This record gives sequence, structure tokens and C-alpha cells, in this order.
Amino acid sequence: MKSFSVAALALIASPVHAGLRFGCSSLIVTRLDPVVEPGRAPSAHLHHIVGGNAFNVTMTGDVGSRGTCTTCEMAEDFSNYWTAVLYFKHPTNGSYHRVPVTNNAALASGTRGGMTIYYTPYDFSSDNLKKQPITAFKPGFRMTVGSPTTSTLAAAKGHIGLRYNCLQTLINRGAEMADFPDKPCPAGIFTVHHFPACWDGKNLDSPDHQSHMYNTITRDGFTNAPACPASHPVRMPQVTYETVWDTTKFNSLWPSGTPNPYVWSFEGSSGYGTHADYMFGWKGDSLQRAMDKDGCFYDGCGTIKKQTMNVANQCTVKDMVNENTDGWVTALPGQMA
Ligand SMILES: *[C@@H]1O[C@H](CO)[C@@H](O)[C@H](O)[C@H]1NC(C)=O
Ligand SMILES: *[C@@H]1O[C@H](CO)[C@@H](O)[C@H](O)[C@H]1NC(C)=O
Repeated sequence: MKSFSVAALALIASPVHAGLRFGCSSLIVTRLDPVVEPGRAPSAHLHHIVGGNAFNVTMTGDVGSRGTCTTCEMAEDFSNYWTAVLYFKHPTNGSYHRVPVTNNAALASGTRGGMTIYYTPYDFSSDNLKKQPITAFKPGFRMTVGSPTTSTLAAAKGHIGLRYNCLQTLINRGAEMADFPDKPCPAGIFTVHHFPACWDGKNLDSPDHQSHMYNTITRDGFTNAPACPASHPVRMPQVTYETVWDTTKFNSLWPSGTPNPYVWSFEGSSGYGTHADYMFGWKGDSLQRAMDKDGCFYDGCGTIKKQTMNVANQCTVKDMVNENTDGWVTALPGQMA
């Protein structure tokens, strides 16, 4: 939608005091999913993961107290954030190549690939100003948005806030779409995942990893947050991921007028199955302190410890799956040829 690109430009042009926003470098690309498939190594499909080094095959308890480093600029954030991975499927020979992730605009210098993470208390262009109290997530909290099995455009459109942009430049994103772009994008494919922000107040997770949360936003972009319903009365920060997929080296391999050649790591014939996972892991009350600080959320207001990205980039996790995901492959990792 137009509103999103206007917001994106406002972000560059003027100070915005409307949420915590920071970069996290890529941590690992691997087939693990401790939210949806705990204990299973490898998981069904490949993920791109950022955040703390407590990331593991299974994750329980207080992640924030276990993390000792993070790829995020916010040094007390040991959360993990992940999505599926984008692949280019060669239009004539059917081989796949993983699409690299590149830095978004306006992040701290040295951010490597990764994602832009937002915790928005109210909306994108006005401060919370105590419009509503925000409760930080509790240790052990996790959730997902979207689903790899989404198979219709109508259902994809119904997933408010799970969108694609065809990047003209890093800051000129064009319109938001519910499916992959239908022609090559000069500066890459931009994906956004907005999570719901109303909690049932009881469950750190649910069988589908979604029903303990509720989305009150009715249109795309960073719009203001209507009140939470009685079933999910607790207002949490609205978490958003942005990822820039550097598709530029594949543009010349996409013959003009032919269908979109990009697939997620779980395949599917469209982009409708876009989804993302969140594992809360802020240390102690650090996220709550940021949310309680009115007036200057954008950088943590001095309430949250930051680190330079060359320190963040030293944070690593052991590869627990050991699978080559680079170069041309005849089948997606974990998927049948
Ligand atoms: C991952 O879990 C295994 C098994 O519980 C444990 O031995 C290992 O130390 C964990 N790794 C990290 C980085 O927490
Ligand atoms: C498909 O094309 C790419 C790019 O030209 C090439 O590197 C790859 O080896 C091809 N795959 C097969 C199975 O021929």
C-alpha cells in the first residue's frame, strides 16, 4: 500500500519516535525450528536466523538469562528471529540457488545481512504517550505468523502485515503485495512480517503457536493499534521483521514475461506461505524498560545497552545440522527432488 512507502520515506527523512528499531546481523542459515519443530534436527525446511547465541534445537525457559552474545545492535536482546529462506529456481533447468540477504537502509554501520527488528508500542509515526500500557513478553514466550500451507491469494491477503515489495532502491520500495513480484526488482525483494500484539495473558505458546495472540490491525503497514479484545486483553509490543533479499544477480536469468522464479525454502508455487517465528529472549526487564520510556523509543533512549556491529558480528552458534546450502542444488534442503 502507498502508506507503507510514505512511512518508509518518513523514516529516512525525519526523526520518528515511535518504536524500538534496530538491526541484527545474520546468525546462521540452518534447518532448525525450535518453535514449530523442537527437538528435530534437521527441521523440514531451511531458515534464516538472527539474534542470540542460545539458539538451539530445543529452547525452553529463560533464553535471556542464557544468552552470552547476540548479533543484534541491542546488546541485551538474546531473542531469536527467523523466517524461511528465499531461493531462485532456474526457469529452464530447475536448479535452485539460495538468495543472499543484504542490509536494509539506515541500520548501524557494519550490520551484515540480517533483519531489521521493530517493537512498536502504538504506531509508526506517533509516540505511545501512554495511549496504552505495553507489557513486555515473558521468558519462554514464542509465537509464529503466517503458514507455509497458505494456498490462496485471498488467504494471503487475510494475513495482514505479511507482505512483499519489489525494491526499486533500498528506500524506494513501491507497493506492498501479498505475493512475490511478477518481474525482476532492481534492488531486491523486501519481505515484511508483522506479528500480532494482543496476548491472552496466560499462555507462553499454543498448539498452533498463534492462538495465544490476536491481531487487531486491519490494514498493512505500521498502523495504529486498536484496543485488544477481551479474549486477548494484554497489549504487547508489535514485533516486525524486515528482510532484504538480494536478488540482483538472478535478474538476468529471469526471461522477460515468464512467471516468478522465486520460491521459499518449503517450495510452494507462490509467495502465499510466507511466515516467521519469534522466540523472546530479552535479558531481565530490559524490553519492559524500553517500552516504559515515553518520548524516545527509537534507539532505546539510553535505557538499553547497545553494541557496535563489529562486536555483534562476532556472535556465532555452532552449526548443528552441517548441510551445504550454497551453490546450485537440484533439490531444496529437506525437500524431495
Ligand atoms: C544446545 O542443547 C544441547 C542439548 O541440551 C546442549 O548440550 C548445548 O549446550 C546447547 N547449546 C547452546 C548453545 O545452548
Ligand atoms: C542450471 O543453470 C545454472 C546456471 O547456468 C548452472 O550453474 C547449473 O549447473 C544448472 N543446473 C543443471 C542441473 O544443469
